[in-house]
Amino acid sequence: MGKKTTAIAFANNKGGSGKTTTCANVGYSLSLLGRKVLLIDGDMQMNLSLSFFPEERVLDFAAGDKNLYYAVKKQEDLTDYVIASPYTNLDVIPSSVLMSGIEYELFAKGQREFILKNCLAKIRESCVYDYILIDAPPTLGGWVTNILCAVDGVILPVEASPWGLFGVANMFEFLDGVKKLAPKPALLGIVVTKMDSRKNYGKQTLEALRRFEEVSVFSTIIRVDSEIEWAQDNSKPVYAYKRNARSAGEYLELAKEVEEYVHRRRQH
Ligand SMILES: Nc1ncnc2c1ncn2[C@@H]1O[C@H](COP(=O)(O)OP(=O)(O)OP(=O)(O)O)[C@@H](O)[C@H]1O
Ligand SMILES: [Mg+2]
Repeated sequence: MGKKTTAIAFANNKGGSGKTTTCANVGYSLSLLGRKVLLIDGDMQMNLSLSFFPEERVLDFAAGDKNLYYAVKKQEDLTDYVIASPYTNLDVIPSSVLMSGIEYELFAKGQREFILKNCLAKIRESCVYDYILIDAPPTLGGWVTNILCAVDGVILPVEASPWGLFGVANMFEFLDGVKKLAPKPALLGIVVTKMDSRKNYGKQTLEALRRFEEVSVFSTIIRVDSEIEWAQDNSKPVYAYKRNARSAGEYLELAKEVEEYVHRRRQH
């Protein structure tokens, strides 16, 4: 059987739930496991781009025409927009602040839910990558619909907090709406992030999440770790910054679990 590309979005309209951190670090961990990975920064905040490149380079990408905004605006094949990261097996398509206007750009186009999917068609057909991971912004609109229509599965990072839990029901509803447009994507699982084991609330959140029938919760939980912020400050995934950091190990475990989930789904 030939190689197949699996595209996964990291989405949750709750801001600060750990989408970008999880997308960047699962992506890096998959590359460490020998998989070829393309990371796509779908957010005007450019945080995913900043996770791999220093600020000056990210601003250059944003100011130039090699970023996701231009590709989508011009409805171009994304192959020419791929930038090699400093790491083996890992490429990035950076974002731009102009992404703030993407909803407007999409508005007047035909088949507007499928623009990103079409931009990605050639890369997917080429099967160069094992995984394409897309970091979604904290919104629920036409652009996130585009992201969801372009992927096979969605991972929902949820912060172990009261409001973290509140946002999950919203996401289920939105995903149901998207399923009417395209049969995909499958909700792969919830990742609990920023768990503070000293707080009882985190345990309560976890129990509540495990009661949802629609989705399973990954058994790897990402705990609060200040090394994550230091790594981000240095434009690096946490493993590349400090390989014995607790969260580096957790993200490696999570990446293995993501692979298991993907393989299980493929067998069904
Ligand atoms: N495990 C962790 N331990 C400590 N800090 C974390 C952890 N995970 C994420 N953070 C911090 O929490 C903040 C939010 O994380 P992140 O940017 O990944 O969330 P997000 O869902 O992508 O946010 P947005 O909705 O704005 O895109 C960041 O400042 C990040 O450094
Ligand atoms: Mg983000």
